[in-house]
Amino acid sequence: METVLCKTQQKRQVISLIILLWVCEAGSATGRFSVAEEMEVGSFVANVAKTLGLEIGELSARGARVLSEDNRQYLQLNLETGDLLLREKLDREELCGPREPCLLPFQILLEKPFQMIPVELWVQDINDHAPAFLETKMLLKIPENTPPGTLFSLKNAVDLDVGENNIQNYTIFPNSHFEVHTRSGGEGNKYPELVFDKALDGEEYPEIRLTLTALDGGSPSRSGTAEVRVLVIDVNDNAPVFAQSRYEVQVPENSPIGSLVVMVSARDLDIGNNGQILYSLFHRSEEISKTFEVNENSGEVRMRKKLDFETIQSYEVDIEATDGGGLSGKCTVVVQVTDVNDNPPDLTISSLTSPISENLPETMVAVFKTRDQDSGDNGKMVCFIQNDLPFILKPSVDNFYSLLTKRALDRESRAVYNITITVMDFGIPRLRTEHNITVLVSDINDNSPVFTQTVYILYLQENNSPALHNGSISASDRDSGTNAKITYSLLPSEFRDLPLFSYISINSDNGHLYALRSLDYEAIQTFQFAVRATDGGSPALSTATLNVLLVDGFSEPYLIITYCSTLCFSSQA
Ligand SMILES: *[C@@H]1O[C@H](CO)[C@@H](O)[C@H](O)[C@H]1NC(C)=O
Ligand SMILES: *[C@@H]1O[C@H](CO)[C@@H](O)[C@H](O)[C@H]1NC(C)=O
Ligand SMILES: *[C@@H]1O[C@H](CO)[C@@H](O)[C@H](O)[C@H]1NC(C)=O
Ligand SMILES: *[C@@H]1O[C@H](CO)[C@@H](O)[C@H](O)[C@H]1NC(C)=O
Repeated sequence: METVLCKTQQKRQVISLIILLWVCEAGSATGRFSVAEEMEVGSFVANVAKTLGLEIGELSARGARVLSEDNRQYLQLNLETGDLLLREKLDREELCGPREPCLLPFQILLEKPFQMIPVELWVQDINDHAPAFLETKMLLKIPENTPPGTLFSLKNAVDLDVGENNIQNYTIFPNSHFEVHTRSGGEGNKYPELVFDKALDGEEYPEIRLTLTALDGGSPSRSGTAEVRVLVIDVNDNAPVFAQSRYEVQVPENSPIGSLVVMVSARDLDIGNNGQILYSLFHRSEEISKTFEVNENSGEVRMRKKLDFETIQSYEVDIEATDGGGLSGKCTVVVQVTDVNDNPPDLTISSLTSPISENLPETMVAVFKTRDQDSGDNGKMVCFIQNDLPFILKPSVDNFYSLLTKRALDRESRAVYNITITVMDFGIPRLRTEHNITVLVSDINDNSPVFTQTVYILYLQENNSPALHNGSISASDRDSGTNAKITYSLLPSEFRDLPLFSYISINSDNGHLYALRSLDYEAIQTFQFAVRATDGGSPALSTATLNVLLVDGFSEPYLIITYCSTLCFSSQA
């Protein structure tokens, strides 16, 4: 296991707050599971609980999940058994092409407590492809005076499988004048070479037909065949010779289709038809034929499709020059693809919790992963959010980050946060990706109702008619929903041996007050009662006692209701 290299830089700005930057290079896996390609959906891969040394129940208790590198989920985790199963059939050739070993990185995420375990799935090759020749008919012209032991390169077959399942040998039939050698080229490719081992006489054998077979090393082995026609021809003294046997060029990955890669050139000392040269690609793999073309007259090698440094970093292109007499010479063009910052970083949210409750200390809101497919500085990233928000980013392994609250949030001050996560690479030009998330803050009943006025004055005429609406009181609550739904009530008390409820009533929903019986000013000049406002939270909070007085000394008798804080009557509330 390699260690994760992670640098933390801090940058301080005087006026604004602090931006934290994390430069994080790719981590590496701590474990590897393996599975053969083409296995049925639902096939068993491994038991995660056993591998991690956890009890089965711990997986679901800790919120275990499998996160894949991109959004394609190859695997599913059965929380009851701890088994990791295939969600889809894997085709190694589609996933990795010639790359071996074929590794698919993924992560096992345990949410509580937060733990991220990088793992990779090794998809192993099976022999599901046979060798095939791109050209099933070949023509080889050889001069009649060719000495025994001369080698002739033949065009190769390709096999999409890798390792042992790729081509191992070539054989030829009949083998009375020739045998075939299998030559190893770069990147594990095998090329056939025809060896001429008995003298020929052009008049006797104008043409020989051979069957060339390519065999792979799978079990059972698969094969592909091509027909080779050998024409014995009159003497042509000189074969074409390239100015260089090896050309090395560097091509930026964003070069347009049709751009010139290199111009190769060969010379042939013969005259006439025997000295005329045609250029062609030799030993071409499918990839090389799709990517490059050579002008048969000028030797200009041009691009047929765009290069991608992230897929292939170098090519070896073999080019043959053939003269009109059938003799040929070879050269190799080595194309190094150079990286261009052509991939913006991307960001995948793995989990997001919203709404989050107010008043909680440091809480995890989201987990996400950043990725940039370029290499070097083009693939290094920084990640940040706006600096005026009460949230921070914390880096984790494998370019994963968690977004946390810095402190307890107060819904009454702010209930919605729009957070823009920006990921930027260090390439030229710097590419960036933004991802917006909205985090809602949910309410806790942390505010008591408050009366809107400190003094209420309600006029009440003497000998009033009973049950008349005579004004209202009102309170508000900064919480929301049922936490802010206020119920009004009278606190029980007595006045002149009669309960308060026989004089006054209050509408519990809107706080409207009603006098229930006629009041005679000469008999009653003053009395007091208390009103309570209670919210609908759980537990409910209630506030306030109101002091109600009927006072003399004005032209009209009236009630003064004064607001008093909880403290005044805290023993009654
Ligand atoms: C093919 O090659 C392998 C090793 O390269 C060798 O063991 C085997 O005998 C060869 N088979 C044939 C048919 O030549
Ligand atoms: C958050 O974004 C939404 C749209 O996505 C917008 O309607 C809202 O006004 C924004 N709120 C704030 C506080 O910026
Ligand atoms: C994210 O939000 C910001 C500010 O509201 C806005 O300018 C930007 O266009 C948004 N980005 C995306 C990708 O929606
Ligand atoms: C209170 O009732 C009297 C009649 O009894 C009425 O004249 C007066 O306007 C009422 N006051 C209010 C605030 O409704």
